[in-house]
Amino acid sequence: MVKSKVLIVGGTGYLGKRLVKASLAHGHVTYVLHRPEIGVDMEKLQILLSLKDQGAHLVDGSFNDHQSLVNALKLVDVVICAISGVHIRSHHILQQLKLVEAIKEAGNIKRFLPSEFGTDPAQMGNAMEPGRVTFDDKMVVRKAINDAGIPFTYVSANCFAGYFLGGLCQPGKIIPSRDSVVLLGDGNQKAIYVDEDDIATYTIKTIEDPRTLNKTLYLRPPENILSQREVVGIWEKLIGKVLHKSTISNEEFLTTMKETGQNFAEQVGLTHYYHICYEGCLTNFEIGKDGEEASRLYPEVNYTRVDKYLKRYI
Ligand SMILES: NC(=O)c1ccc[n+]([C@@H]2O[C@H](COP(=O)([O-])OP(=O)(O)OC[C@H]3O[C@@H](n4cnc5c(N)ncnc54)[C@H](OP(=O)(O)O)[C@@H]3O)[C@@H](O)[C@H]2O)c1
Repeated sequence: MVKSKVLIVGGTGYLGKRLVKASLAHGHVTYVLHRPEIGVDMEKLQILLSLKDQGAHLVDGSFNDHQSLVNALKLVDVVICAISGVHIRSHHILQQLKLVEAIKEAGNIKRFLPSEFGTDPAQMGNAMEPGRVTFDDKMVVRKAINDAGIPFTYVSANCFAGYFLGGLCQPGKIIPSRDSVVLLGDGNQKAIYVDEDDIATYTIKTIEDPRTLNKTLYLRPPENILSQREVVGIWEKLIGKVLHKSTISNEEFLTTMKETGQNFAEQVGLTHYYHICYEGCLTNFEIGKDGEEASRLYPEVNYTRVDKYLKRYI
């Protein structure tokens, strides 16, 4: 079978560059969108050139230039968007509506994977402000995809390991302490941690898979479904030391979130932690008929276990 050609939008990003690497590793001719808006951002240019060195093709295109997007799309069969989900002033995610318009016009795209890669927004209808903006915007994009009849797969990647494991599931922390940890509530809610390179691998594996056409692919590597206490226990074993533990109740967490003047993007992030760590929103539902689980579909992927991921911090 001829391999699909793939366009990655947001290819210079944290997840995007891993998607480019995985796409090339799986033998796909891979294009990366170069947006003229980056101007003379030399660091970004270096990333683009390093992706080119790895074998990717750069293609010019702007969200503000419909025809340039259509032209880029005509080169490929599959589009994966990994545009930033960070909400500071603009709703980045909604820029994908322009991509949806261009995909509709190009008419040749066999699969579109919009920028999701987190909590399944379809499960988050009752999410709190201000964090619900992430889920609401992703649902607006889903509706546009659906209305346009574009073939899709949504990837629900759960927790990026770097964000959650690095800080032992504490918001705002990215390096594990050797002394102490604050447990969120009783620390017993289960969450799901996925190595970012594994997210990219599962994503690329799914783009030609008929089993995930017009479905959500949930990444639930079974050994990485753990509570905060279990994650801390793994770290303690690795460093041979027991950490001092304190706790923050859900009421305290919410009060701190509202009162300490975090900026909007931080509050969005804290709301997500609340739903994951206090409510268990990643694991409190069964995968339905519109979903598939990645480690079941692709058992050949030797995903990174939490202890191996945490070893890099020792
Ligand atoms: N589950 C989790 O724990 C978790 C954690 C983080 C992120 N995520 C999700 O993963 C996805 C990717 O996030 P990320 O952290 O990899 O993103 P990121 O590194 O913040 O940004 C990715 C790319 O978005 C593009 N971009 C940024 N600002 C833009 C703008 N104004 N207009 C157009 N493009 C813009 C840039 O690509 P170019 O300059 O190359 O075009 C950038 O490199 C998002 O959907 C996010 O919600 C999930």
